[in-house]
Amino acid sequence: MANSGGRLLTTALIVGGCVLIGIVAMLMVYHEPIKSEKKNPMARNFWIAPDTSQIPKGPEGQLIRYGRDLIARTSYYLGPNGTVSKTTNGMNCQNCHLDAGTRPFGNNYGSVASLYPKFRARSGGLESIEKRVNDCLMRSLNGEPIDSMSAEMRGMIAYFNWLGKDVPKGQTAAGSGLKPMAWLDRAAEPTKGKRLYLQKCQVCHGNDGMGLKISEKGPYIYPPLWGEHSFTTAAGLFRISNFARYTQTNMPFGATTEKPILTEEQSWDIAAFVLSQPRPEKKFSQDWPNILLKPIDYPFGPYADNYPETQHKYGPFGDMVKEEKR
Ligand code: HEC
Ligand code: HEC
Repeated sequence: MANSGGRLLTTALIVGGCVLIGIVAMLMVYHEPIKSEKKNPMARNFWIAPDTSQIPKGPEGQLIRYGRDLIARTSYYLGPNGTVSKTTNGMNCQNCHLDAGTRPFGNNYGSVASLYPKFRARSGGLESIEKRVNDCLMRSLNGEPIDSMSAEMRGMIAYFNWLGKDVPKGQTAAGSGLKPMAWLDRAAEPTKGKRLYLQKCQVCHGNDGMGLKISEKGPYIYPPLWGEHSFTTAAGLFRISNFARYTQTNMPFGATTEKPILTEEQSWDIAAFVLSQPRPEKKFSQDWPNILLKPIDYPFGPYADNYPETQHKYGPFGDMVKEEKR
């Protein structure tokens, strides 16, 4: 009796132990996703673009779809062999505005409808969406501006307005544009960046930075990062902070804001290397009418301070930031 009682107790202990281990294991598995969500507090709060299945039927919907396609396949319409005109460098808006401008911190268009027209220091005035589109056409795609009343401009604007329809006027959609990033505390180094470029970017964008096309006349599979078909020196991406911010959350292709591949430091060095390579030069003499409002990493003088152009291009930015605050 005492014996079987002891056996019973042992069995009960073993079974109880197993059940307990089982429960703990289940809890751990069950908690896994919750834990990883906690690590990325931003993950759940991003603005989400309306689904394309919600694009209305009829002529308005057609215009929105046309605008979306112009963003995704710009080259097909406006590129060197474009069906509408042949003025741009062959890049697509989507190369820099990922997923047709909807990806969190993939330079997305979530706040275009809600914030434009807005004051911009580059022009020193209130800018319409039309002006902003033409700026990217001329500077990033090295092309010509298009008419405000053209089907292409109306289409792109219809698309931006549809995308941002649920973002209240005057508000910024979370995750729109590029991810904010602190300045690097030293100068960014092109030589370090070159080593990283060869490891992490070259396989797609090429040893010569020229990207890769499907065929000689076909669109890019991998867009160029420098050289004659790349964005110009007047483009937003020619500022090292913009390039580093875009790269850190989006490249190598497959990286996301939640799962970046590069550290911020690596992104600065790679940006320094890519931006030290040759590219089309464009200048708009009317830019930055008030030089006090020029961003400190704008790589062309004149400046309101005495730091040289190279420091404005690569850093270190610490002292400039302090001086700007003063
Ligand atoms: C080479 C990269 C690149 C390409 C290609 C490009 N853009 Fe941009 N675009 C940018 C960057 C970078 C910014 C933000 C930079 C800044 O504000 O200085 C921007 C900003 C914009 C904005 C303002 C967004 C906002 O929230 O203020 C609009 C609108 C825009 N682009 C439209 C277009 C359109 C339309 C095309 C294609 C015709 C295009 N872009 C192609 C890099 C690019
Ligand atoms: C696996 C291939 C791949 C790798 C590796 C890769 N990219 Fe890209 N990159 C792309 C593709 C594809 C696009 C265009 C995305 C689109 O149109 O949806 C792009 C676009 C870009 C753009 C904006 C368009 C342009 O041409 O200016 C930049 C800047 C860029 N990549 C930088 C980098 C950097 C820096 C690295 C290395 C850290 C890198 N990429 C690694 C595939 C790649």
